Amino acid sequence: MPQEVRGVIARAKGEPVTVETIVVPDPGPGEAVVAIQACGVCHTDLHYREGGINDEFPFLLGHEAAGLVETVGDGVTDVAPGDFVILNWRAVCGSCRSCEKGKPQYCFATHNAEQKMTLTDGTELSPALGIGAFCEKTLVAAGQCTKVDPSAKPEVAGLLGCGVMAGLGAAMNTGGVGRGDSVAVFGCGGVGDAALEGARLAGASTIIAVDIDDQKLEWAKDFGATHTINSTKEDPVERIRELTDGNGVDVAIEAIGLPETYEQAFYARDLAGTVVLVGVPNPEMKIELPYIEIFGRGGALKSSWYGDCLPSRDFPMLIDLHLQGRLNLEGFVSETIAIDDVEEAFHKMERGEVLRSVVVI
Ligand code: APR
Ligand code: ZN
Ligand code: ZN
Repeated sequence: MPQEVRGVIARAKGEPVTVETIVVPDPGPGEAVVAIQACGVCHTDLHYREGGINDEFPFLLGHEAAGLVETVGDGVTDVAPGDFVILNWRAVCGSCRSCEKGKPQYCFATHNAEQKMTLTDGTELSPALGIGAFCEKTLVAAGQCTKVDPSAKPEVAGLLGCGVMAGLGAAMNTGGVGRGDSVAVFGCGGVGDAALEGARLAGASTIIAVDIDDQKLEWAKDFGATHTINSTKEDPVERIRELTDGNGVDVAIEAIGLPETYEQAFYARDLAGTVVLVGVPNPEMKIELPYIEIFGRGGALKSSWYGDCLPSRDFPMLIDLHLQGRLNLEGFVSETIAIDDVEEAFHKMERGEVLRSVVVI
């Protein structure tokens, strides 16, 4: 029987979100219905509401979630009712050209549920990032459910579903940070702080946080920053060189999505170092760099999509490290809120007051 539950809907561009009754179908073949326990509020949810992703309103928002599998459809063998899962937006297909090359972390044909959730009048909903988890229950492809140790708290575990994974993976997967490396992270929001934490976990010994907000720089210290730079008060490139014997860092991570900070990251890295872009630029932005510097500095200029994560490999491992006390995830949860408070949480996010507000259901 299809179920009626409450969910957070963005009906039209720029309009405040509303909590409405949605209809969740029974899972079809390859699908699962998940009872959501917690879901973080991410910038991407706000971008959907602002029409910045596409025009397929109404959206069912929310995508950084953890919960319990309630029912599964035919042919689902990887997860079963009762499993504690983190939802991911990279359910790999196994057969696209990237999967076939043995690189499922870039899968170009990821799965979502085939059936649609709807409003009570039958209007089809577009779930954010193919998830839609500011709701009591959601329908996803079974491959979007990654089983992890149920001793982790849902409000902490769910964060791995998007922004925190993006930052951790930018350092650990894309940047390939290793023992003794020096790392600089530009932008200390949830994504940047997770990149700092990833650098610490990977064994970096010099970890430099750059931001324009002293409060954010204070918080960055809880995620492993050994040095902080307020780039409105001093030149970040010069200061990073000073902190690294005049050389620059091995890995420079841009976690904002601005041309000016990408340039800073480009010049703040050592010869043969790596620049990682995990911040998302807007389509109008352009950068200009001296071509000879791109050659002369060598190394690698990389982009990190969702931290280049492979959910089945990374989520259980990161949850285990967290449960062993080696990965600070609880520090990202600034507040827990109710499903009715998402609009207010967007405003707090815009004012830079929180790393993550997390809806607990
Ligand atoms: N220089 C340095 N820091 C800056 C600058 C700047 N010019 N402009 C903004 N910042 C800082 C802010 O003060 C804030 O601490 O960057 C941080 C951005 O954090 P959030 O807005 O919380 O964003 P976050 O959720 O971390 O996401 C960062 O990654 O995945 C992408 O879409 C996401 O592009 C976004 C980026
Ligand atoms: Zn694939
Ligand atoms: Zn997100």
